[in-house]
Amino acid sequence: MATSKGKNETVTLIDNVTGKKVELPLMTGTIGPKVIDIRRLYGETGYFTYDPGYTATGSTESKITYIDGDKGVLLHRGYAIEDLAEKSDFMEVCYLLLKGELPTKEQKEKFERDITRHTMVHEQLNFFFRGFRRDAHPMAIMCGVVGALSAFYHDSTDINDPRQRMIASYRLIAKMPTIAAMAYKYSIGQPFMYPRNDLNYAENFLYMMFGVPCETYKVNPVLADAMDKIFILHADHEQNASTSTVRLAGSTGANPFACIAAGIASLWGPAHGGANEAVLKMLGEIGDVKNIKPFLERVKKKDGTMLMGFGHRVYKNYDPRAKVMQKSCHEVLKALKVKNEPLLDLALELEHIALNDDYFVSRKLYPNVDFYSGIILKAMGFPTSMFTVLFAVARTVGWICQWNELIEDKEQKIGRPRQLYTGADKRKFVAIGSRK
Ligand code: ACO
Repeated sequence: MATSKGKNETVTLIDNVTGKKVELPLMTGTIGPKVIDIRRLYGETGYFTYDPGYTATGSTESKITYIDGDKGVLLHRGYAIEDLAEKSDFMEVCYLLLKGELPTKEQKEKFERDITRHTMVHEQLNFFFRGFRRDAHPMAIMCGVVGALSAFYHDSTDINDPRQRMIASYRLIAKMPTIAAMAYKYSIGQPFMYPRNDLNYAENFLYMMFGVPCETYKVNPVLADAMDKIFILHADHEQNASTSTVRLAGSTGANPFACIAAGIASLWGPAHGGANEAVLKMLGEIGDVKNIKPFLERVKKKDGTMLMGFGHRVYKNYDPRAKVMQKSCHEVLKALKVKNEPLLDLALELEHIALNDDYFVSRKLYPNVDFYSGIILKAMGFPTSMFTVLFAVARTVGWICQWNELIEDKEQKIGRPRQLYTGADKRKFVAIGSRK
């Protein structure tokens, strides 16, 4: 990977303890803030940096996704998310993320054909599902089953061979909807549906989720289109918690299927991918527009209640994905002829009140992508427990692109943060009989 050092720009740190001056290089990206290269800092000063949650730490150089959180901008390979959501489709976005450019017509057809060839899972994988309780959370099943894929493709995946890496990437993108739908079917006791390669990615997923072998399933084009948009909007989001987890696991040379399973585990939490599930739970608890103000009072008192679907580590403005999602939400409800969806009315009012409340305004808390996605998914017939699974299906392409980039990056080492140790100093071991 080309290094992006600036034109010999440096930053000088003055150590007020020793008086020593350290000059550190500044790195310049295409857009976005400059970055201080601190790799020499410990060697020259004996100091580490302290940054819990990595709020000011760039862990990698990347060419995939750019976010300007203050302006509410999200670009994939330079293309705005709004354009991709409106003018493109998920397969095209996958190609773009993986290969860096939008495909030609022929390239796209070949890519879709190649992905389609990998949609089935090994028949033996069916037995893995049977080991889970029927009431297991589908994210627990996803962690286990996707991790188990590494057992099927361990010897055939040489991560140093770009072709084998690309095959593993195609396999993951292709098989995730199949595994996700199987997790759902298992939970409701219906037979697994084999993928249908005459359908596109989103249509096939809806078919495997909601079709049954004894009936013909007709895909609703509005729902397939909304599903495709949801996949696009969740495809990648630079170095978020789950992506960083995938990169950290990948930095050890681990099997890519195992790395993606680690990403799924990281995505599960309510502060990350689990937020869409939490939003619906929250709307259910609020129950009525008249309860919004008392609910927000509890949030503001910080009694542990959060306004789920609001706030973001990077966006300090409207999450651009939330705007697309809000529009799509109205389209889906219209297509499904849902005239009065109380949850949507409640969400709109909650959003309106929060965006006019100084507590949220002053902290730059805006709706994020998850604020509306749960309402659409619910209207489409997905159970709440599947919401984060859908996020995982969509994010797989982002994870696998970032993993590929990491493996190709000569400057990357095993991920290994340091710490500020505040535990006991070295002390003498006391034999058990002499301890007080
Ligand atoms: N509700 C109420 N207060 C909030 C919220 C919220 N959703 N989010 C942040 N705050 C408050 C914090 O209490 C803090 O207040 P303070 O300055 O008085 O202490 C301030 O806003 C800053 O918050 P931080 O915790 O520093 O923000 P951080 O960047 O660490 O957190 C996060 C981001 C985790 C997303 C947080 O906003 C949150 O938990 N939101 C709700 C969960 C959610 O929707 N997650 C989805 C994220 S998007 C995604 O993963 C797809």
